[in-house]
Amino acid sequence: VKSLHTELGLSLDKEGIKVVEIVQFGVGKVGKSLIKLILSERKRIEKEERIRIVYRGLLRSNSYVLGEETEKYIKEENFNFPKKGKPDLSEFIRKRNTVFVDVTNSDEITDILIDALKHGANAVTSNKKNLVKSFKIFKSLTDSKGKFYFETTVGASLPVIKTLLNLMETGDKIKRIVSLPSGSLSFIFHHLNRGKDIAEAIELAMKLGYTEPNPMDDLKGTDILRKTLILARIIGKKIELSHVDFEEFVKSNSLEDFKKGEIGIFRDRINKMRESGFVYPVSRIEGRKVKVSLEVFGKNSEFYNLKPGENIFLIYTKRYNKNPVIIKGIGAGPLITASGVLSDILRIGREI
Ligand SMILES: NC(=O)c1ccc[n+]([C@@H]2O[C@H](COP(=O)([O-])OP(=O)(O)OC[C@H]3O[C@@H](n4cnc5c(N)ncnc54)[C@H](OP(=O)(O)O)[C@@H]3O)[C@@H](O)[C@H]2O)c1
Repeated sequence: VKSLHTELGLSLDKEGIKVVEIVQFGVGKVGKSLIKLILSERKRIEKEERIRIVYRGLLRSNSYVLGEETEKYIKEENFNFPKKGKPDLSEFIRKRNTVFVDVTNSDEITDILIDALKHGANAVTSNKKNLVKSFKIFKSLTDSKGKFYFETTVGASLPVIKTLLNLMETGDKIKRIVSLPSGSLSFIFHHLNRGKDIAEAIELAMKLGYTEPNPMDDLKGTDILRKTLILARIIGKKIELSHVDFEEFVKSNSLEDFKKGEIGIFRDRINKMRESGFVYPVSRIEGRKVKVSLEVFGKNSEFYNLKPGENIFLIYTKRYNKNPVIIKGIGAGPLITASGVLSDILRIGREI
């Protein structure tokens, strides 16, 4: 039985423990947190779940380590890898117990994931770029032979995608999703709504680590746009990024440019909107309408009472038609994202 399992890539060791081999792309904030988390939890996981997680590859933009040697780098938390360039991964692609983990911000990993999934290996990603390419690519990833999970691409470790899938698999129909899927914008707009100046709110968000290195990447709204497309595709809409009704909230590419020019117009726009309530960026998916825009909410709205940094998802379905399913909480940060990635890895470990 053991040799048959090994051939199928279902490496069970002598004690019958299932071995899951990880090849991880990216050792940035999320990647490092994931390594730390696995180092601290793997003994418990092995005891409770009879799943042993081992590292068999770590890759950065231009360097890597592969094979059993990877464990040495993990344990020493040494991320200066010996080999330069891009490796040959064919040995891992055919193994059913390999999980390719993409925690990069690159759009170059998608083809590798598709190839691996087609050959029966598995993949987990927190990187939205894999899921916002053409609908055809989205389908190649999600309808493949191997298992593919991407829970953390929307809402970090808030259970958003799995809740949608759970509702749909029992025959419920998702009618509408209204959400604020951005911790940084939730934080910034919380303070704008209470009278803080936009420049100060951005600087505070940057200081507390809520934003991307360039805060304009958050303020433009493209992150919400991507998450909206992922949610829409999950609930069955065959749409492309260009089909979303969206206009960037700001046009400037740097905070300096924003402060020099556009800030005045933006300030006036928000102040005018604030006369009738609290302003938040919102993603709406309903029927054929998929839209990302700034909206005003009154006192009775769920958005009105959001705490700084909180994401919110209101899911209206055939069964939950008046009172939606509400998922709310902090939806960003390296550690909670890494814990969501680990949860997806364990799901694969249990299923293979
Ligand atoms: N941070 C969060 O709270 C959060 C929450 C949810 C989702 N995410 C998503 O998770 C991903 C990782 O975020 P992060 O904050 O950890 O980013 P990060 O700190 O910028 O790290 C990115 C890592 O990716 C590596 N990388 C880039 N291109 C690569 C390539 N072609 N091949 C292999 N490695 C490559 C970089 O390596 P080099 O250093 O060698 O360039 C770096 O180690 C992003 O897609 C992000 O949107 C993040």
